[in-house]
Amino acid sequence: MENKELKKLVFATNNQHKLEEARAILAGQFEVVSLAEIGCHDEIPETADTLEGNSLIKARWVKEKYGYDCFADDTGLMVEALDGAPGVYSARYAGEHCTFADNVNKMLFEMTGKQNRKAYFATVISLILNGETKTFEGRVDGTISTEAHGNGGFGYDPIFIAEETGRCFAEMTPEEKNAISHRGRAMRKLAEYLVNL
Ligand code: IMP
Repeated sequence: MENKELKKLVFATNNQHKLEEARAILAGQFEVVSLAEIGCHDEIPETADTLEGNSLIKARWVKEKYGYDCFADDTGLMVEALDGAPGVYSARYAGEHCTFADNVNKMLFEMTGKQNRKAYFATVISLILNGETKTFEGRVDGTISTEAHGNGGFGYDPIFIAEETGRCFAEMTPEEKNAISHRGRAMRKLAEYLVNL
């Protein structure tokens, strides 16, 4: 069997779940390599106030300090009744070293009694490849539930009801979630771009 050497593309993350997702989507096109695999153990500062800005910071960090072509993602949950919060601050909504459960509880508290429960997840992926920079976006619309449901996923999955299924992300299989999720959509746009190069 021919053992074709695939071009390496760094994904600026060490999140195993995201790496597996990206490897499945880009299988046969690229060998997706994590930050740890290039010897990068830096705490990359995410100091921008937009998802695009933070994804660009991470991709540029890898290109400039390690010399690899790379893509990086950043995700936020935007809640209409909270004027778009927590948005770019979704990871640290309940404080600097908070857990996913802390964030979920804070969101349920902030949304107590709110009639408008509309929210969306957005992911921006920045790609630096062959000297060019491109961005890809994915979005999923839904609502914030009044209590937690399901055991799957991570982050705000127990309280985000996807419009398309009427169920919380945490109640769906990974395949069901990936098919409609913000990150799945952004990843597939990235893959379509890469396959058409
Ligand atoms: P990140 O940019 O992918 O690290 O996402 C920032 C934060 O958004 C995470 O810490 C989670 O709290 C939340 N988040 C991102 N993606 C998801 C998801 O698919 N489901 C639920 N929460 C998510």
